[in-house]
Amino acid sequence: MGTSSAVRKEAEALRREIEEHNRRYYVLDDPSIPDAEYDRLFRRLQEIEALHPELMSEDSPTHRVGGNPVSEFSEVRHRTPMLSLSNAFSPEEIEAFDERIRKALDVDRVAYSVEPKFDGLAVSLTYRDGVFIQGATRGDGATGEDVSANLRTVRSIPLRLPRDAGSGDLEVRGEVLMFLADFEKLNHRQRAAGAKEFVNPRNAAAGSLRQLDSRITAQRPLRFFAYGVGTPDPAWRTHSEVLDRLSGFGFPVAGERESASGASGLMAYFNKVGALRDRLPYAIDGVVYKVDRLDWQQALGFISRAPRFAIAHKFPAQEELTEVVGIDVQVGRTGALTPVARLKPVFVGGVTVTNATLHNEDELRRKDVRVGDTVVVRRAGDVIPEVVSVLHDRRPGGTTPFSMPVACPACGSAVTKSPDEAVARCSGGLFCPAQRKQALLHFASRRAMDIEGLGEKLVDQLVDAGVVDTPADLYGLDIATLSRLDRMAEKSASNLLAALEKSRHATLQRFVYALGIRNVGESTARDLAMHFGSLGRMMAASTEELESVPDVGPIVAKSIRQFFDEPHNLQVIDELRRAGVAWVEGGGRPAREPGKSKTFVLTGTLPTMTRDEARAMIEAKGHKVAGSVSKKTDFLVAGEDSGSKLSKARELGVTVLDEGEFLKIIKALE
Ligand code: IVH
Repeated sequence: MGTSSAVRKEAEALRREIEEHNRRYYVLDDPSIPDAEYDRLFRRLQEIEALHPELMSEDSPTHRVGGNPVSEFSEVRHRTPMLSLSNAFSPEEIEAFDERIRKALDVDRVAYSVEPKFDGLAVSLTYRDGVFIQGATRGDGATGEDVSANLRTVRSIPLRLPRDAGSGDLEVRGEVLMFLADFEKLNHRQRAAGAKEFVNPRNAAAGSLRQLDSRITAQRPLRFFAYGVGTPDPAWRTHSEVLDRLSGFGFPVAGERESASGASGLMAYFNKVGALRDRLPYAIDGVVYKVDRLDWQQALGFISRAPRFAIAHKFPAQEELTEVVGIDVQVGRTGALTPVARLKPVFVGGVTVTNATLHNEDELRRKDVRVGDTVVVRRAGDVIPEVVSVLHDRRPGGTTPFSMPVACPACGSAVTKSPDEAVARCSGGLFCPAQRKQALLHFASRRAMDIEGLGEKLVDQLVDAGVVDTPADLYGLDIATLSRLDRMAEKSASNLLAALEKSRHATLQRFVYALGIRNVGESTARDLAMHFGSLGRMMAASTEELESVPDVGPIVAKSIRQFFDEPHNLQVIDELRRAGVAWVEGGGRPAREPGKSKTFVLTGTLPTMTRDEARAMIEAKGHKVAGSVSKKTDFLVAGEDSGSKLSKARELGVTVLDEGEFLKIIKALE
């Protein structure tokens, strides 16, 4: 008996519906049904296909879960070779590129299609009469590997194209990659399962795409972005048009693509994307400029294996290899010991790096970094450089594993490590000069007592000379003592004394923050000041009372109690008071009843006021400022260059205000 046409129709309808949901989710980033509903549709289609194998089709989304493993990939010869791009690193090279092209074409001005350069793997996808039939890796450019079954599992790759994609063959080219957030999740999963972690999203994508068992690939969060075609349709005029068409056929293309002309236009795009780079959901390693007109591309042709009409303008690499020449241990304000690798200088992420953090003992042990090792160092954006991994096969003979000291390198006190923490700590407290120095720097920092001019070098000198032990000693400094220090001119000495004088008038919030109580950041200090209104009441509070302050949990309450139970700390507070440090008791208006206060988040640069000023206006009315956008946020005040907070607010439907709207609202609020 043949299959009834009702079943056939249902299968067809399910395939279309499922693929539409795939497209909404992976291409448009705008899902319209819950996951459970999607799963139900998917299972129904699987059920029909199991009962009616004759209905199975190549382009069915059920293939996306993977099929039988293969023992090796077969070779695929690319019909048009997959070329590489020449690289450029400097404005001069970009200038020369544009000039070369203008000369060759004998024109004054050339329009370019400009796009991000994805840091993934190039693949080629072949469609015949609108159906995906084959997918291949780039390989050596002429021949790649047939990874069709694996690519079918990538949900952002359409398995069937709309009718207007035409008949015949279409070869789409682009990049397979992994979003950074998906990569983190995958590594988390790998760690939990005791499996090997991947060093970066690119390696994770490569490893996933080259699985012989496509069911494994199906479990990996791969994405695809299209950036070109093998041979364009003769009716298409420009590369921008190619990308528009591909987007229309359902392929994801970079949202950041634009047109630009002239070397200055190219540079402007490079700088713009460079500034945006850390906020993109995926890794890019530069931008690509392509002559937009396809006939001009043809006319320009190729040099060896790269087109003359395009160039990759690379960002400085964020990862480089270098050698570990030593491992030191630094002591932070709270006594935390941080192992730091001293490196042979290396240019990475746009700066020369000589030190990189190894984070803590657990991390150090996991990576097993040793003096003499060749390591991968990473510096992305403003992030502190870190050692990512060790090249074990380059390890010289005779190295020994590094072990953390049992005594503090700064003061010799015992090093302790509680089992629930990755961090080892010096137990010396303020006896430890390293902690003392950090504590002084924190006390003097801008958001604490704001003592201008009291920087690292001066603190080093003051502590090393035995002139200053505690913050209270700062207020006993005089011109005579200061001028005895190295490189201390009278002018800077009197400036420092003036800054100290000014800092005597504080607020309770600043003073509490300046004390450097573990786990008490600025916002907790503010909450404490608001709640207790006086230092005396705060110092006398039990852990239970402390826990009644918003956002103070048992751990924070315990650190506060411990701090005020330490006689040495009480003595410092007393000495500060006697040295004339005073603060306004009370924390502004008392906090409002829960439910009556509004929560604001501030982001970006406001046109006429600083974020601190905006914060003060909000707090003066007893409302709150939070550090991140959540469902509880009432308003996001967004200035120029608002980044992820703005997108998060939009996602959650939080009201977004510009400065003008903010001022109106804050005036109107009770
Ligand atoms: S166009 C003929 N556009 O960069 C030009 N390539 O060195 C072919 N890539 O392996 C490439 N993003 O995988 C082009 N927007 C982009 C790209 C891009 C990344 C990769 C591509 C290729 C390599 C070229």
